[in-house]
Amino acid sequence: MNTPKRYTVTTALPYTNGPIHIGHLAGVYVPADIYVRYLRLTGNDVAFIGGSDEHGVPITIKAKNEGVSPQDIVDKYHAIIKKSFEDFGITYDNYSRTSAPIHHETASEFFKTLYDKGEFIEETTEQLYDEQANQFLADRFVVGTCPKCGNEEAYGDQCEKCGASLNATDLINPKSALTGNVPTLKETKHWFLPLDKHEAFLKEWILEGHKKDWKPNVYGQVKSWIDDGLRPRAVTRDLDWGIPVPVEGGEGKVLYVWFDAPIGYISSTKEWAAREGKDWEPYWKDEDTKLVHFIGKDNIVFHCIIFPAMLKAEGSYIMPDNVPANEFLNLEGNKLSTSKNWAVWLPEYLEEFPGQQDVLRYVLTANAPETKDNDFTWKDFQARNNNELVAIFGNFINRVVVLTNKYYEGEVPTPANFEAVDEETLAAVKAYPDVIASSIERYRFREAGQELMNLARLGNKYLADAEPWKVIKVDEERTKTIMYVALQIASALATLSEPFLPFTSEKLKGILNLEKALQWNEVTTEDVLLPASHKIGKAELLFSKIEDETIQKQLDKLEASKKANEAANKVVEPQKDTITFDDFTKLDLRVGTIIEAEKMPKTKKLLVLKVDTGLDVRTIVSGISESFKPEEVVGKQVTVLVNLAPRKLRGVESEGMILMTENAEGKLVFVNPDEANIANGLQIS
Ligand code: MF3
Ligand code: ZN
Repeated sequence: MNTPKRYTVTTALPYTNGPIHIGHLAGVYVPADIYVRYLRLTGNDVAFIGGSDEHGVPITIKAKNEGVSPQDIVDKYHAIIKKSFEDFGITYDNYSRTSAPIHHETASEFFKTLYDKGEFIEETTEQLYDEQANQFLADRFVVGTCPKCGNEEAYGDQCEKCGASLNATDLINPKSALTGNVPTLKETKHWFLPLDKHEAFLKEWILEGHKKDWKPNVYGQVKSWIDDGLRPRAVTRDLDWGIPVPVEGGEGKVLYVWFDAPIGYISSTKEWAAREGKDWEPYWKDEDTKLVHFIGKDNIVFHCIIFPAMLKAEGSYIMPDNVPANEFLNLEGNKLSTSKNWAVWLPEYLEEFPGQQDVLRYVLTANAPETKDNDFTWKDFQARNNNELVAIFGNFINRVVVLTNKYYEGEVPTPANFEAVDEETLAAVKAYPDVIASSIERYRFREAGQELMNLARLGNKYLADAEPWKVIKVDEERTKTIMYVALQIASALATLSEPFLPFTSEKLKGILNLEKALQWNEVTTEDVLLPASHKIGKAELLFSKIEDETIQKQLDKLEASKKANEAANKVVEPQKDTITFDDFTKLDLRVGTIIEAEKMPKTKKLLVLKVDTGLDVRTIVSGISESFKPEEVVGKQVTVLVNLAPRKLRGVESEGMILMTENAEGKLVFVNPDEANIANGLQIS
């Protein structure tokens, strides 16, 4: 076991333009929280730092779309995100926000320091401009083809497909995300961080220093950028939402969001230290501190190249020890998407699965996209809950607790002689802390989570093989030993499950009546994990079976999103050839009322309607039976084309046509007058 250390652990600051979804959780927040809980249990000094990223284009765009101010947007989502992290058991030491005054100060000062040290290049260049919107186009305000991989939806600062970091002027066929216009070029002054100046340092530090301990996906991306050659990068923008550029000539300009946001880690640490009466500086400046950034793969360039270059240029900061970035999580085979509502949202999950935080934590860990993109499916969620959490972990604990209560009124029995299987089992249990720790320390959380489940499996198998419920009838002493061993395993699980299943661990500690549970290492070093004659509590279910209906509900919700998207993305039919006014007046359109309706026998689509057109009551055959039941349409006022040549459908003569269209869900709807009580027969013109 390692000697305790000081750790600063950060998680990517989420943009406050929407709630957190499972992609964020699996990629960043769940692994970080497992790591931090483990570090605390092993006696380290940890600052777990988070916060909201409240500047940047995604927020401005969201505000525009909703017709509110950016401040309204960030206030709303900051509160939602912060609360959902708390409810999900993400144990930040501090969760801040980049609109906080301490952050504005810290980021401003940081910029000024680099400015005063001459670390920037100040240059007037031509940048993309949207004449109609009166705005420079950088970052997500502009979309175009990535010069590296050909992705047609690359942004002005980054291609999310290949991860390349871009300047807006690099894009091929750029288009304004605001108006769709092709941008023009306009001169403007900005400050650039010369990344090329730090190339030698980055090469030595990462390419030579971290070849072995950084994840191959992270190392590989970084190497390819450095090999491509680094260029100066603008760190200011012509925008009004953000932190004002604090130097001469900076009026009307703000810091680039990716300049200010990572400094948010530092401001959040300061805020925490001030509250706790600590000194923040060792957490960022002491060489003994291990700085670890948990992020998703689209953030690699910013955390491995740009932010380190900023810290290096400043001069007094340490470098991250590791940046364990994950790949992406998909949902039911499709890319997660906020705008397409293709996601499982954390606030909704918490509401719909109350008390089941650990199930989601467990499944996202078991399926974490650690080395490649991975898929979340509701079926797998159900299977992992029912077959692993309920059938293995929950079942084992339940048997142990129920039998201990039944046989010994809840008292841990004094063991008799240990047989070989008991000794082996206890030795195996004591090996687990190191096994799990070694996986966690190498950022292999899937493996770590599976090892925890293996410990529960070991307990389950031990009981199933030893069969105390049979042995009790013939050998009471042997039964005591079996139950004693099983209770030791339960105690080990209570401690070792804490990083992964914190709510369950809490509950289990309650059931086992542990005022002070064991520390991580004590599971290995203590001879006795739960002493004889200690009194445990009553059984309580740790997990419960998830039924098919519950899963189906979630699948239906996704299906509805898919339908809504298809409707929204439906291509609008091109306009038909122009007609004259005389052509139009040939159509005799009237308001009518459906007075009778019945299904046409032996057809799926057709209804036979009687329509009062004001002129007469006539029969119209209409292909709407898949969208309406006959009784639903009776009494509806509709628009009727009355002078359409009659035609026979399945032997019934149809004398006209009712005007229809489709709603967002693809259901047919009537084009009808929105005033009730318009007289039938009135002409439409
Ligand atoms: N808001 C960014 C994103 O969601 C992440 C910012 S991380 C930080 O991709 F380092 F800048 F804070
Ligand atoms: Zn690309």
